[in-house]
Amino acid sequence: MSDDLRDAATRIRANAYAPYSGFQVGVALRSESGRIFTGVNVENVAYPEGTCAEAGAIAAMCAAGERRIAEVFVIADSPEPVPCCGGCRQKIAEFAGPDVAVTLATTDGKTLVMSVAQLLPGAFGPDHMARATAAAQG
Ligand code: THU
Repeated sequence: MSDDLRDAATRIRANAYAPYSGFQVGVALRSESGRIFTGVNVENVAYPEGTCAEAGAIAAMCAAGERRIAEVFVIADSPEPVPCCGGCRQKIAEFAGPDVAVTLATTDGKTLVMSVAQLLPGAFGPDHMARATAAAQG
């Protein structure tokens, strides 16, 4: 894991909008082109409308016209390296190969590096829809 991703995630985390949980999360990802995209969690008074930091970083990458993730760094003030939620694991897997490294980190310096395949074993992917897609295409 490179320092620039850690620094970007740490810096952006301060902008997280988390008045309901008090749990600020920052994410930085590097796309395959080498650019870094960041995101924070953005909560809402209608709780289910909140979005995770991973979703924000992925949206920024897509808005820039990029589609492939090379590396991810997630940081929060958590006793143990913060695991991405299930939904974010699926969101990352949409744009990252199984070997892409996702570093989970605490603000006091603990890290745990996991691959996308480790985070989401048995992932649902496009191949599972092959029959439906073929049928739809007639
Ligand atoms: N959260 C993230 O943004 N990313 C994670 O990986 C874990 C959880 C957010 C969602 C919510 O705003 C807060 O953390 C508490 O669940």
